[in-house]
Amino acid sequence: MLSGKRIILGVTGGIAAYKAAFLLRAFQKAGAEVRVTMTPDATRFIGVETFSSLSKHEVAVEVFPENQSTTDLWTKHISWGEWGDLFVIAPCTANTLAKIAHGISDNMLTATALAARCPLLICPTMDGEMYEAPAVQQNLKMVKEHGYHILEPEEGYLASGLEGKGRLPYATAILEKSDEIIRNAQANGPLAGKKVVVTAGPTREHIDPVRFISNPSSGKMGVAMAEAAKQMGADVTLIHGPVSIPKPTTISTIEIESAAELFEQVKAHANADIVIMAAAVSDFTPAEKHNQKVKKDNSDSALKLEQTQDILSWLGNHKKEGQLLIGFAMETENLLDNAKAKLKKKKADWIVANSLSESGSGFQSDTNAVHLLNASTDHRFQGTKKEVARQILAHIFN
Ligand code: CTP
Repeated sequence: MLSGKRIILGVTGGIAAYKAAFLLRAFQKAGAEVRVTMTPDATRFIGVETFSSLSKHEVAVEVFPENQSTTDLWTKHISWGEWGDLFVIAPCTANTLAKIAHGISDNMLTATALAARCPLLICPTMDGEMYEAPAVQQNLKMVKEHGYHILEPEEGYLASGLEGKGRLPYATAILEKSDEIIRNAQANGPLAGKKVVVTAGPTREHIDPVRFISNPSSGKMGVAMAEAAKQMGADVTLIHGPVSIPKPTTISTIEIESAAELFEQVKAHANADIVIMAAAVSDFTPAEKHNQKVKKDNSDSALKLEQTQDILSWLGNHKKEGQLLIGFAMETENLLDNAKAKLKKKKADWIVANSLSESGSGFQSDTNAVHLLNASTDHRFQGTKKEVARQILAHIFN
């Protein structure tokens, strides 16, 4: 049920911290990707390595960890806060609850809670007497007023030896609540009710059945844009060429091969509210396509090419009322000038400008560094392609 969803799992320092390892596995089994942030006290109950091994990702504990000299690490609360679809704090101690209620951000978990753009689910877990304490009840009221979600603890046998309300709910209950929160967030997202078409990946222009002209586009950026639009509540159709990554399972997809096929599909979906042209469309196609393999002995070595339809330009010239067009520009030189020229020429509303010569960006890379341009503004975003996709859409639609 949580397929493709990104969960930040926050683990705080209570005895139920060990259960968070099982919870992480349950999220993964449901198809979610999980990153873990722990409070320093949580590491007294369960090791960082348990969570880094299970999540296959670094675990964030301190904002300024010792023995850590990298300059970008301390901003993880911001990038994770953008990455997640949901931040689940399970178990959440009375101490962390109090910090969240009052906006204290003295470790990576509490800082991420404050920075998160996604919904927050708090699973308060403590001894029954503590749970009933007026200060805890007051803090629970406060976090609800902040718009955070609470999953009430269950009654039963507690680590103190007493019986009472304070146990961490079973993983199934936490997963169900998480799914409900994410669904509601999407239903109320800034793109709810909008039809969005995203094109992704390369096209292939066949010379004969075994040879074609193409480019190294992996489709990562386009797929990330489609997923980001979906997370914001859009009804997304992804039209993609032969991508080298797994196709998203929760988005309706249409597979094409050539620029001509892509054009046909885009025209068929041109009534969308938003079209995002992230595909690396081939500009040329062989003038003649052979049905059989061309033999080297009896062929002319010169390949005659003709231009393909510029699909984004066509969209710009056939724009329906209120439609928004987002194009991409892949450049090796004069990035901003060339991108601005494309914005104008193709009548796009926004252009995402990529420079192939910049490190950390380009066709196969997992990361990207882009400029988002419209007629009057220029914003720069960088990070993983998934993060950049979210930043772009958040900038345009939030
Ligand atoms: N594009 C398109 N149809 C084409 C070629 C490109 O719709 N036949 C779209 C791309 O999907 C992208 C934008 O136009 O959104 C810019 O693509 P890019 O490859 O950067 O530029 P080109 O228009 O192909 O120009 P050039 O190759 O001269 O840089």
